[in-house]
Amino acid sequence: MRATFRGNSSFSRWMITICAFCLLLSGSQQALQAAQPSEQSRTDIFTSATEARADALLQQMTPEEKLGQLNQLFRFGPSPKMDEQIKKGEIGSLLFVTDPVELNRLQHLAVDNSRLHIPLIFGFDVIHGFRTIFPIPLAMAASWDTDEIEREQTIAAAEARSVGIDWAFGPMLDIARDPRWGRIMEGAGEDPYLGSAVARAQVRGFQGPEIGTPDHVVACMKHFAGYGAAEGGRDYDASYISDAQLYNVYLQPFHAAVEAGIGSAMSAYMDLNDVPATGNQWLQTTVLRDQWKFRGFVVSDANAVRSLENHGFAKDPADAALRAFTAGINMEMAMDHTAYSTLPAALKANEITLAQIDARVKPILEAKIQLGLFEHPYADVPRSKQVLNDPAHRQEALRAAERTAVLLRNEGNLLPLKKSAYKRIAVIGPLAAGKHDTIGSWAFQEDEKETVTVLDGLRSKVGAGTDIEYAPGVQLSRYFPSFFDQIFHETKPAKWTDAQAKAEFEKALSSARSADLTILTLGEAQDMSGEAASRSSLELPGEQEKLLQAVTALGKPVVLVLMNGRPLDITWASEHVPAILEAWYPGTMGGAAVANLLFGDAVPGGKLPLSWPRNVGQIPINYAHNLTQDSSKQGERYWNEPSTPLYPFGYGLSYSTFTFSNLKIDEQEGKVGQPVHVSVEVENKGSLSADEVAQVYIHQQYGSASRPVRELKGFRRITLAPRTKTKVEFTLTPADFRYWSAATRDWVEDPSAFDLWVGDSSAATLRADFQRTR
Ligand code: BGC
Repeated sequence: MRATFRGNSSFSRWMITICAFCLLLSGSQQALQAAQPSEQSRTDIFTSATEARADALLQQMTPEEKLGQLNQLFRFGPSPKMDEQIKKGEIGSLLFVTDPVELNRLQHLAVDNSRLHIPLIFGFDVIHGFRTIFPIPLAMAASWDTDEIEREQTIAAAEARSVGIDWAFGPMLDIARDPRWGRIMEGAGEDPYLGSAVARAQVRGFQGPEIGTPDHVVACMKHFAGYGAAEGGRDYDASYISDAQLYNVYLQPFHAAVEAGIGSAMSAYMDLNDVPATGNQWLQTTVLRDQWKFRGFVVSDANAVRSLENHGFAKDPADAALRAFTAGINMEMAMDHTAYSTLPAALKANEITLAQIDARVKPILEAKIQLGLFEHPYADVPRSKQVLNDPAHRQEALRAAERTAVLLRNEGNLLPLKKSAYKRIAVIGPLAAGKHDTIGSWAFQEDEKETVTVLDGLRSKVGAGTDIEYAPGVQLSRYFPSFFDQIFHETKPAKWTDAQAKAEFEKALSSARSADLTILTLGEAQDMSGEAASRSSLELPGEQEKLLQAVTALGKPVVLVLMNGRPLDITWASEHVPAILEAWYPGTMGGAAVANLLFGDAVPGGKLPLSWPRNVGQIPINYAHNLTQDSSKQGERYWNEPSTPLYPFGYGLSYSTFTFSNLKIDEQEGKVGQPVHVSVEVENKGSLSADEVAQVYIHQQYGSASRPVRELKGFRRITLAPRTKTKVEFTLTPADFRYWSAATRDWVEDPSAFDLWVGDSSAATLRADFQRTR
């Protein structure tokens, strides 16, 4: 849907890896021929001049030189062996080099020594910032602000490119409906429509309007595909997804990214319906290239080619290489040597052809050409310092963190806090002073000195007349340590003894007792979500719930600030703690943003990008479920508690109050294939300028297959001055009504009756209906 607005105001496993044959896939998947009809497919990501130059280069290359381009290795430190390989053109790409001086040295090895002077392409996990860290991707989605997301990734791209990184391993587009899965924090949540909008914004941000736009990088959509549905939420475990769910849900953001012109993709680790994604020809060729006309290149996830042997799929590394290569994987990402190094032997044995090799190599060369790497292979080191130190980037990080926070509860309008009202504030909780916890997972290049924690933010916010006392109260640690911690981080502080733990708990309580307001910052430590950070429960880890309840029992005002990468079981807090602000992992300026939000210098306007379960037993829970034979009691599927989520998808409060009215639908002739226009009035009834997100949901009442009870089909975040109203208009296009029908096994647009709701969440009540006939 397109929306218009008229306002009157306007590693790793990569390090320790879980580390032919065209695969005949399941009959049902083979039967899927049709690509979703696309309104604006982009198959022109490389210019004809780029293509001609790549073709000319290919003609000069030996098979060995070509196959060298398909190898990508991690580089964490000196490696004379790797230097030699680079000189000989045996490596096409490196990842994890971030020092521009070293990067230039390595690039010189390739450009000066390889026979055809082909530069390396440097990749890195630029997920939510490079030096300036923005809120985690799940939080970005909670902003429901695609312009903001585009700006964030534009800055991330500029910072990364300034040091010579040409390729970001983002956006992560896995739809996830199971918050036990640690990587839910890297994506946009549960919804394909929101996920697709966020995907497009990220592609625009990373790449700019075209691949090769200065100060931008090539983006990489990952993990293709189905990783978010890992069974039991256990990272890396197999996914079983029906064809209809694949096409209508899990593949949607990826298709949107291809349509937006993304230059590369990364294959996922897990088995998809019993075929590992990295050896899955249906995914990597039939869908991606044949149906979607993707012209870029696919890199395997780290060591995922070799892992085909671990899966019990490939016989040995040579078999793994052959099957990944045949399935459509262009480049292999590996720790220190690739299974693809066996491909020259496969060529000699006639197991692969020169034509196949050319097809794999060509888009890699095209990307290098169009990025301008042949002309400008080196980073401008002095300039990179300027770019990384640009204060405007920190300002954007502040704005981003303010826009991503979601106000979950605000009883008695405790928030916003009045600056002069409190003489003593107790800041309690293990995350309030944690630099790395403020940043979140998938950030490696931040300057910790710049990170503003919640404690820092509050200290600089309150005036001289207010004392702030800090006590962590409890300590957080994982049962199984994280491999990231082992690799990247300093040693953790020693575990408290029982006596220390008791004393710290008491200290926090006594601090809260003597304060007139307590701000508790609870949630999950940085290493508790992200890759290899799945968990079997959603409770506040450690003794946090006990601390929360003990502090609340003191009977004084309590604000709970959550820092986390997944919804947590906060059922008790949702009934007993007056104010709850979801800050996610808010990034470099996170603490300053939290302070602005708590004291009313910014107004929360974020909305949940997922349904927030009451507890782990409700998983999976998502708003776009189907109706059933007894749809009247949807919320009573369990006898022991409501089966509705604690907070619905799209939910988030404001310090102001908004109303929606005057919903109008112009379905034109009411014909299938025609657009439907929707308008609604949104009014800010409060006395503060604030944001609301107008959300449009539809439900197809009958058709060739059952359709979800509600599906998001449009949204717009707007800012309204106090006591003003505006008309927001949406156009639902035929694509918004089209879906892949499990009954007809094709894309359909059914004639049917439709319900439509507009409002401030997926629980919106303002409703209208319309018909569409043939
Ligand atoms: C992750 C990818 C990441 C890659 C390179 C893998 O373990 O699954 O998302 O891009 O490592 O760091």
